[in-house]
Amino acid sequence: ALAEQAKRVAAEFEFDADGVNKAVKEFMREMDEGLQREGTELSQIPTYVTAVPNGTEKGLYMSVDLGGTNFRVCSVRLHGNTTFSLTQSKVAIPRELMVAKTSKELFSFLAKQIEAFLKTHHEDHYAGHLRRRQTGDAIKEEEIFSLGFTFSFPVNQVGINKGMLMRWTKGFDIPDAVGKDVCALLQAEIDALHLPVRVAALVNDTVGTLMARSYQSPGKTGTLLGAIFGTGTNGAYVEKLNKVAKLIKNKDAGAYDKSTGEMVVNTEWGSFDNSLRTLPNTSYDIELDAKSVNPGIQMFEKRVSGMFLGEILRLALVTLLEDPNVPLFRDENSGTNDIHSTTQIHEGSPLFRQWGIDTSFLSICASDNSPGYKQIRQTLDRDYMISAVSAEDAEAVKEIAGAIAKRAARLSAVAIAAIVIDSGRLEKTPGAAATTEKKADVNPPRGDVESSGRGDVAEEDVIDIGADGSLVEFYPNFEDYIREALREIPEIGEAGEKRVRIGIAKDGSGVGAALIALVAGRVVDDAA
Ligand code: BG6
Ligand code: GLC
Repeated sequence: ALAEQAKRVAAEFEFDADGVNKAVKEFMREMDEGLQREGTELSQIPTYVTAVPNGTEKGLYMSVDLGGTNFRVCSVRLHGNTTFSLTQSKVAIPRELMVAKTSKELFSFLAKQIEAFLKTHHEDHYAGHLRRRQTGDAIKEEEIFSLGFTFSFPVNQVGINKGMLMRWTKGFDIPDAVGKDVCALLQAEIDALHLPVRVAALVNDTVGTLMARSYQSPGKTGTLLGAIFGTGTNGAYVEKLNKVAKLIKNKDAGAYDKSTGEMVVNTEWGSFDNSLRTLPNTSYDIELDAKSVNPGIQMFEKRVSGMFLGEILRLALVTLLEDPNVPLFRDENSGTNDIHSTTQIHEGSPLFRQWGIDTSFLSICASDNSPGYKQIRQTLDRDYMISAVSAEDAEAVKEIAGAIAKRAARLSAVAIAAIVIDSGRLEKTPGAAATTEKKADVNPPRGDVESSGRGDVAEEDVIDIGADGSLVEFYPNFEDYIREALREIPEIGEAGEKRVRIGIAKDGSGVGAALIALVAGRVVDDAA
């Protein structure tokens, strides 16, 4: 019956310990390969960021953030004591701009948002600047905001504020931008509006998240990894500079500080294992990829991130519906008090439209444990135009949705594990029990930052990770599933898993980008 069919489909999404371990090995291999040369599956992009902050940084900076659910403009005051205040405005990116005819349309929209933000939140600053422009007086250097540009797409970075777009991801598709310097594109539109803003740093959201986490929770060893599990997925980590061979060999590389011996590397792990050596591959994955704007790339991301999980569920449900032997959504007496007691899928249900199911529905499925799954049924009715659904139907949907999300979390663990193992930080012997302190005593969560850790680990043994994105934030138990998989990896095991602390750095990249703009400013000062 239906329950068995649902179990059968759910089983297609199993990704067992053996699969996890094989994928970790492949991930480590690709990490190394990506550091040697260009054109590899993991892009391993050198970011020119050579240090993580320690919480003492100060000043007023701006940042903008393009590439997640929202476009955000922020100004950030760093107080220098690991705290900051953030003013921000968020707008959803209009869908038509994601596939605009020219990049100018997108970037002029961004500049207009910056202008509106300045007028609203920094009026004095903006007015003074305008006045001086009209009177022809010299523009004062201190009036110009340094802006960190969080641009969450793969960019071939050649300097702290210069980088060429390699490819679009997450459904964006504006061909003329590919190969162009995205900082210059933004600066041109900012200048067209005569705004007192200089694009000082180009930042991937993962790098911003890493910086923000490190500023707020510097710990004893510094944050290792900034990870996004949202619309897309990706991670940036601290690498030993001497391992970034392709940067050292590159004669055209821009200037960077060599003194720390480290550089943050943006893995672009969304494209991990595009050739499917170790990634699980169901018929639904194949169909999703074939109908996407970028078949064959971002294959890891297409199995992990929020943009895609709803669509995988949709394809699985439609496949079941097409099978006349499966009684999904066919109840003729669903036994509810609804007006229709026969389940109806209305014409025009998003179930029949590409991208019709939002990933937030998977979170709803996971959190509804009520008898009869009332919330799942209501959501199917209200948002998906499937009315009078039976409890059995809801249970089947829940089973499949849960399996898709669990696979995503276990895949996420692959990326985290590979970077943790590769960093060598596990090899340091855990401190003596006598020095053990509870994490919460050492680093109380501040503001909107919550930390999860597994207590009883000495600060110097903590391997700190900053995470952000709608999936880790809203999907129940996402982190628990990640941890379960981490324990199944022999190099990590129970002891290593306890040392991994994952802290949510919500909206972190706004702060992170400001921090990088600050460091970029410092580099200029040093040179002067
Ligand atoms: C935001 C960050 O909080 O999370 C963005 O500031 C990031 O930089 C985003 O891209 C990722 O989450 P989502 O779910 O919006 O894609
Ligand atoms: C996509 C982008 C990457 C970004 C990630 C998370 O994978 O290519 O740059 O970090 O999404 O937003």
